Amino acid sequence: MSSQYHHLSFLLVSLCLVLSSSAASYVPSDSILLNCGSSSEATDSDGRKWIADSPTSTSSLVSKNSNPATAVYQDPSLPSAVPYMSARIFASESTYKFAVNKTERHWVRLHFYPSTYGDHAPNNSYFAVSTSDGVTLLKNFSAYITAKALTQAYIVKEFSIPPASDGSLSLTFTPSNDHNGSFAFVNGIEIISMPAIYSEPAELVGFSDQNVEVGDSALLTMYRLNVGGQYLPASNDSGLSRTWYDDSPYIYGAGFGVTSSASGKLEIKYPKDTAEYLAPTDVYSTARSMGPDPKVNMNFNLTWIFQVDGNFTYLVRLHFCEFQMSKINQRVFDIFINNQTAQAQADVIAWTSAKAVPTYKDYAAYVTDGAGDQQLWVALHPSAAAKPEYYDSVLNGLEIFKLNDGVGNLAGPNPEPSALLAEAELSTEQPSFASESSRKVHMIGSAAGGVAAASVALAICAVAYRRKKGITGDEFGGGGAGWLPLYGGNSRSSAGNSTISGKSCASSHLANLAAICRHFSFAEIKKATKNFDESLVIGVGGFGKVYKGTVDGGTKVAIKRSNPSSEQGVNEFQTEIEMLSKLRHKHLVSLIGFCEENGEMILVYDYMAHGTLREHLYKSNKPPLPWKQRLEICIGAARGLHYLHTGAKYTIIHRDVKTTNILLDEHWVAKVSDFGLSKTGPTMNQSHVSTMVKGSFGYLDPEYFRRQQLTEKSDVYSFGVVLFEVLCARAALNPSLPREQVSLADWALQCQKRGVLADIIDPQLEGKIGRECLHKFAETAETCLLDHGVDRPSMGNVLWNLEFALQLQESFESGEPVSEEMADKAAAVGNGVALAAVSEVSDDTDGQSTVAVFSQLINPVGR
Ligand SMILES: *[C@@H]1O[C@H](CO)[C@@H](O)[C@H](O)[C@H]1NC(C)=O
Ligand SMILES: *[C@@H]1O[C@H](CO)[C@@H](O)[C@H](O)[C@H]1NC(C)=O
Ligand SMILES: *[C@@H]1O[C@H](CO)[C@@H](O)[C@H](O)[C@H]1NC(C)=O
Ligand SMILES: *[C@@H]1O[C@H](CO)[C@@H](O)[C@H](O)[C@H]1NC(C)=O
Ligand SMILES: *[C@@H]1O[C@H](CO)[C@@H](O)[C@H](O)[C@H]1NC(C)=O
Ligand SMILES: *[C@@H]1O[C@H](CO)[C@@H](O)[C@H](O)[C@H]1NC(C)=O
Ligand SMILES: *[C@@H]1O[C@H](CO)[C@@H](O)[C@H](O)[C@H]1NC(C)=O
Ligand SMILES: *[C@@H]1O[C@H](CO)[C@@H](O)[C@H](O)[C@H]1NC(C)=O
Ligand SMILES: *[C@@H]1O[C@H](CO)[C@@H](O)[C@H](O)[C@H]1NC(C)=O
Ligand SMILES: *[C@@H]1O[C@H](CO)[C@@H](O)[C@H](O)[C@H]1NC(C)=O
Repeated sequence: MSSQYHHLSFLLVSLCLVLSSSAASYVPSDSILLNCGSSSEATDSDGRKWIADSPTSTSSLVSKNSNPATAVYQDPSLPSAVPYMSARIFASESTYKFAVNKTERHWVRLHFYPSTYGDHAPNNSYFAVSTSDGVTLLKNFSAYITAKALTQAYIVKEFSIPPASDGSLSLTFTPSNDHNGSFAFVNGIEIISMPAIYSEPAELVGFSDQNVEVGDSALLTMYRLNVGGQYLPASNDSGLSRTWYDDSPYIYGAGFGVTSSASGKLEIKYPKDTAEYLAPTDVYSTARSMGPDPKVNMNFNLTWIFQVDGNFTYLVRLHFCEFQMSKINQRVFDIFINNQTAQAQADVIAWTSAKAVPTYKDYAAYVTDGAGDQQLWVALHPSAAAKPEYYDSVLNGLEIFKLNDGVGNLAGPNPEPSALLAEAELSTEQPSFASESSRKVHMIGSAAGGVAAASVALAICAVAYRRKKGITGDEFGGGGAGWLPLYGGNSRSSAGNSTISGKSCASSHLANLAAICRHFSFAEIKKATKNFDESLVIGVGGFGKVYKGTVDGGTKVAIKRSNPSSEQGVNEFQTEIEMLSKLRHKHLVSLIGFCEENGEMILVYDYMAHGTLREHLYKSNKPPLPWKQRLEICIGAARGLHYLHTGAKYTIIHRDVKTTNILLDEHWVAKVSDFGLSKTGPTMNQSHVSTMVKGSFGYLDPEYFRRQQLTEKSDVYSFGVVLFEVLCARAALNPSLPREQVSLADWALQCQKRGVLADIIDPQLEGKIGRECLHKFAETAETCLLDHGVDRPSMGNVLWNLEFALQLQESFESGEPVSEEMADKAAAVGNGVALAAVSEVSDDTDGQSTVAVFSQLINPVGR
């Protein structure tokens, strides 16, 4: 009986599961996944089945001159060999025909992997793709140039095509006539029917009485973001196999606001007329809002910026779901698109009449063509006119689609690979600028084959191709996604006097700045540096040069002079000074003052007498540092990072933690540097490039590549590499070593696993590290390098472990046992008990009380 009963309840449970999942997601009537150039069915890494492109009842190919081909090289950043390793090459016009449901819209996703196929070089391929209904999807398209400019290995273009009235959807590939020997190719084609989610007209922003009909348009997906939430792969979408990305790379300036997520208990209730396939619950249950302080909120706009092509109309779909407020007029805000009011007094509860109910709003905006890159701005600001209870604004999801123009065209120009990228590929100097490794890309890339080399090659290939799963077309042209410098917006130049800071924009003027930190005259700077004497240069980077100087008749300073060619906006410069000067900590390099005159942008920092940590580890003739001192330096740097992550008002991710960014003052106190005016780089108007430059090879968090998410745990990863560098006294990346040893992170982990870490530590330290100390230290470094960010310790925990390691070392050196108190605390940390607050007690935050610092932790969830 009881077993029967069990059986029955099992059946019921599974029945319910089936019911709920089919109710939740959309099941397409057509779903054709074509693995072009392949003669057999195959499954990709997400478990999706791709069929061969031989004729079937639903698909066929009409072509006079086409060949299947296989890519010569499998880029390690490809998510899966299927469908990218096989391609079909077209030497002349060719057409795929698909039999489809004639009443439905379809997703058309085209996958391109610009690699060498036999004797077809990818740079020779320019082609057009159009549909039987006369929509031009691509024109003069070079997958090679596009991938290169977006620093991706492969390109996915997602289109939404209106119903094909005759039940036949065809795609015609035409090699360009303008290039001799040009050919077309495609690796994969998805044809998937979709529900009518673009049927309503959208109001044209700026023209209150005009609507744009979307229902008949073909659409190209530009951006699709899970605002305030995480990357969602196609398999986690609600049935439409869309990919949702993290929004933070697109946020302007430092105004990141705060992210929040609905409590697990709160159910997202889709209203009757809003099907779950509009966006998955993961999108609606996370949000970004401005923050708790109404004064701060009134002073800035929560702004996202996107690069788009000019001369097109864009559909901007905003997804909302209020899971914090429950009454009308609690949170009311204005929505601006391209600086024009798209919606005054938006009140999500007024729209949905209840908490946790999703809704969305569509707006259309026309972007004209002008000089340079065209941008689309989406900005939110509390609506003072409505006198709401909370001066705040909120957004859960955002999608941007390009609509076909009057002649049925969706194609834009190929993006331009940046000059900086070309430079980086040629240059051999400056390790922090990716160039060190990029020259070796080809060398190692072509040798890559062995399993051991794969992860190294991966890290290196990232120079040329940033690893991204399922990227959609232009999606990251504006890219940002990634190596944005510390204050996000750095890589986007601002022409006007707009709001940049999440703090007080109004105060970011010269006079106010001078009140925060010192204003130097250009004459003073010239005198301090002996008119920028080359012999005083102590560092060079993309931003310009750093000089050693003397002011006030003897005080030594480091003077960072921006390249005259650097296009950093004056406003950003001011904002950064303001932010930098507020970040004061014993273990952060302090800003003393600035000079803004004659178009010069100069920052004056504390001089660090002992230079960088790296120069005391290897490749220099400096005496080796004793182990205890190395530990103390690591602890200091960890404190600085911990403060950045938790002590400042917003979580600040350094993004370029490495031994050359840890400086040492005359007392050997470690100070983290370069967290402010970091690599804004010379090409401010090409954000995807400066984003690529950010971060240094050998230190990059592999999870970033996979998940499209930068968190403070990326810094923890890089810090783990620093710890091994300190222990082993060798570079994070040394291409002259045998393959498996090139990447220190991989090599050290491998040695640690095999229990032979002792073999690779700095010979200078032999016999000088206590066994337990070494164990604790190595274990800490190892956990920092864990594959998944969530598994890595927080900087606070790292700090504790290092302090414990120091105690162990001290007891080893003195022969006395470790204090019990310390051992207890360390054990607690090991067990995952958060002691961050305790660990800060001893810390010097320049007069700010610890309590104050921690009460400012306004972002306890996420990130
Ligand atoms: C075509 O799509 C419509 C609307 O989704 C659906 O009702 C119909 O059953 C589909 N036809 C076929 C043959 O699948
Ligand atoms: C394509 O690249 C190859 C090798 O990189 C080069 O020799 C060739 O000239 C290039 N072709 C074009 C059209 O740029
Ligand atoms: C293609 O090659 C032919 C002769 O080989 C030449 O006359 C023509 O100008 C070339 N076209 C382009 C676009 O390069
Ligand atoms: C995606 O879905 C799977 C299975 O439901 C789940 O384990 C995973 O955590 C989800 N990933 C994200 C990013 O939500
Ligand atoms: C945009 O339209 C204007 C006016 O019609 C035209 O001059 C310009 O070339 C177009 N730009 C692009 C990129 O097509
Ligand atoms: C919006 O305004 C700001 C400053 O007022 C300006 O820098 C920016 O270019 C504008 N954006 C667009 C898309 O017009
Ligand atoms: C927010 O953006 C709108 C539209 O660009 C602008 O008019 C307004 O001044 C901005 N508000 C602040 C505080 O920057
Ligand atoms: C963008 O950069 C290019 C050089 O890389 C320069 O020629 C162009 O004028 C810049 N555009 C703007 C709008 O600053
Ligand atoms: C095709 O694209 C290439 C590379 O972006 C560009 O140089 C060329 O001018 C384009 N040709 C046409 C006809 O638009
Ligand atoms: C920015 O502000 C300065 C002074 O406050 C003014 O001279 C300048 O014209 C402004 N620039 C713009 C683009 O509004």
